Amino acid sequence: MPQTILVLDFGSQYTQVIARRIREQNVYSQVLAYNSSMQVIKAANPVGIILSGGPASVLTKGAPLPDKKIFSLGIPVLGICYGLQLMGKELGGDVKKCDRREYGRSELRIQKAGKLFKGLPKKLTVWNSHGDAIVKMPKGFQAVACTENSQFSAIEDTSKMFYGLQFHPEVEHSQLGVEVIKNFLFTICKCKADWDMGDFIETAVQQIRDQVGNKRVILGLSGGVDSSVAAALIDRAIGKQLTSIFVDNGLLRLNEREEVIKLFNDHIPGKLRVAKAGKLFLNKLSGVSDPERKRKIIGKTFIQVFDKEVKSLGEVDFLAQGTLYPDVIESVPIGGNPAALIKSHHNVGGLPQKMKLKLLEPLRELFKDEVRLLGKKLGLPDYVINRHPFPGPGLGVRVIGDLTNKRLSILKQADAIFIHELRRSNWYGKLWQAFCVFLPVRSVGVMGDERTYENVICLRAVTSSDAMTADWAKLPDALLRKVSSRIINEVKGANRVVYDVSSKPPSTIEWE
Ligand code: XMP
Repeated sequence: MPQTILVLDFGSQYTQVIARRIREQNVYSQVLAYNSSMQVIKAANPVGIILSGGPASVLTKGAPLPDKKIFSLGIPVLGICYGLQLMGKELGGDVKKCDRREYGRSELRIQKAGKLFKGLPKKLTVWNSHGDAIVKMPKGFQAVACTENSQFSAIEDTSKMFYGLQFHPEVEHSQLGVEVIKNFLFTICKCKADWDMGDFIETAVQQIRDQVGNKRVILGLSGGVDSSVAAALIDRAIGKQLTSIFVDNGLLRLNEREEVIKLFNDHIPGKLRVAKAGKLFLNKLSGVSDPERKRKIIGKTFIQVFDKEVKSLGEVDFLAQGTLYPDVIESVPIGGNPAALIKSHHNVGGLPQKMKLKLLEPLRELFKDEVRLLGKKLGLPDYVINRHPFPGPGLGVRVIGDLTNKRLSILKQADAIFIHELRRSNWYGKLWQAFCVFLPVRSVGVMGDERTYENVICLRAVTSSDAMTADWAKLPDALLRKVSSRIINEVKGANRVVYDVSSKPPSTIEWE
């Protein structure tokens, strides 16, 4: 078993970011629920524990707390934000609601570098997000850094190896936050940087085998990186027990079905079934223009088609999916408020009570670039690994408004031209994602001597590292000109091309 840093999850949207920062340092990290039993915690054999942040207040009744015995394991513990406050409270200090919430950037003044801030400047810009604060430290602790609003921004009890940070070192806005995490890993926990994605395969294969036993698994293959990597990984773990199912929902890009079948035949040894269900999806979507309703219908129909396939396969217990961490986090209502749900990603949202299948999601903790690394280690070809992400609801969320065959056909042709030109100009690999969107808006144009009155195609191209945030790509004028001219000339039904210059947030990458 690799040296492990356990991250106990108290519900912060950054919990997986902490785990990812650790993996980036070639140290294995596992996220466990905050209330995991000591048996489970000890079984992971951790060399250090991080208590994540979270939306709760330690001052409320029923606040999430870990088993207190984690503080008697004799290993270093680092509390971050909520994690710090619970450490303060559980170990005998005092926590109060702040007069002034501390949110966003602040200047951290380091009074004592110690091990946590070893090698760092005396002042750092850090990112905070908290409404409670420690007002009295537990016995044995010492304050080592403060901000204007927080006297105890970093505290430590070096004899017990307990450390606490009020700010979030894991987020990009915290200057040199990674260095603080590195100090915890290497100076305090004495980790060796000897883990890599190859080791992840070993661990994941074992976990899949343990979870699945001798049962059968079906996997929803989309042809994208995530599900292809999931298929290859699960195939390695349980081989013949896996059947992959590719649903052609009629919302695919040009020639996509053929390409997916080829990829599978060439690179993944397992079984593949193709369900052609385009007509069914389009019938159900007919006349529906609300984005969330579309997503729900696509999700539901997907389940129906799957259900049918599953039944035809006999006994199956698990449904495997290539769900990644950003899919999970954006499908969780923010602060428990369902209205704050950003989008119901169909591969997380409506699944799978009705199907009576257990979920197997071996990539759930990973970010896209980590999945690409994993795919490479599993021997998948570059053209799959470097493929842009494609949403489960496919072109269904890229034809704005009502879906019709004609609109889909216009979009498919335009999209194929855009992607072709991006590849030809070597821009494809520099982008996180690029695609066309069909706008149900008609505008007047002139072709030859004739007036046209046709639809608008919008080009969307973004850069991003994990889809949590994204910026529009500054594509060269000449490339945009070429794409625009080709679409207008070659695609009947489109007479205007526009370029989307919105970043995420406040916009999202997809339009619906
Ligand atoms: P948004 O539009 O929310 O997209 O900024 C973030 C990333 O997620 C992809 N996306 C999806 N992926 N099922 C998926 O598997 C979905 O329902 C879905 N919706 C959006 C999107 O393409 C982008 O990469």
